Amino acid sequence: MNNKNKNDVEVEIRTATIDDLADIFHLGEIVFTSQEVSNLYRTWDEYEVTHLYNSEAEYMLVAIVDDVLVGFALGTTIEKNRSAWNYGHLLWLGGDPDYGRLGVASQLFERFKELMVEANVRMLLVDTQADNDGAIRFFHKKGFTNPVDHVYMTMKLRNKSNKGSRNS
Ligand SMILES: CC(C)(COP(=O)(O)OP(=O)(O)OC[C@H]1O[C@@H](n2cnc3c(N)ncnc32)[C@H](O)[C@@H]1OP(=O)(O)O)[C@@H](O)C(=O)NCCC(=O)NCCS
Repeated sequence: MNNKNKNDVEVEIRTATIDDLADIFHLGEIVFTSQEVSNLYRTWDEYEVTHLYNSEAEYMLVAIVDDVLVGFALGTTIEKNRSAWNYGHLLWLGGDPDYGRLGVASQLFERFKELMVEANVRMLLVDTQADNDGAIRFFHKKGFTNPVDHVYMTMKLRNKSNKGSRNS
């Protein structure tokens, strides 16, 4: 929590440019700790940012306060075969902890939602770890419902790199 006042902080939300990519990546390194990204299928790395910039730049939003990047929302749209529905997936939402609870993520989310409506999206998806209480409260507050349990399973395979390992 910080000691800033919501009314004193002016947030600009805009589409990301190439100059924002490093700041997005480094803020992600702070906010996507192992708690938030502790599974194997989601990894925060430079390629996530550059790949999304190459493919979905229009759905990359940043929040700026006093020329400093304090948040971002990165998403994509999904068209399912044989379905009249378009889905939007908010892949990564991050807010600088120094500007937490000031409505930064809310403003990013509202703009993201507008973009999704313009793209004819009929349902939005988000996902996060089951123990990420802050994010889950945030998404509930924004109107997300119906959380679905999702189970990941892993299996170790013997190969040259782990054959001699005690744990294999
Ligand atoms: C979750 C996160 C995006 C919220 O950002 P934020 O800018 O602080 O959010 P906002 O100020 O817009 O919060 C809006 C409301 O959401 C809820 N909320 C947000 N963070 C919360 C928290 N840590 N605990 C409880 N409720 C929370 C509150 O109801 C809040 O309203 P209030 O402050 O008036 O009570 C931010 O904490 C973050 O980056 N977390 C780590 C990354 C992450 O988990 N991302 C989501 C999955 S990709």
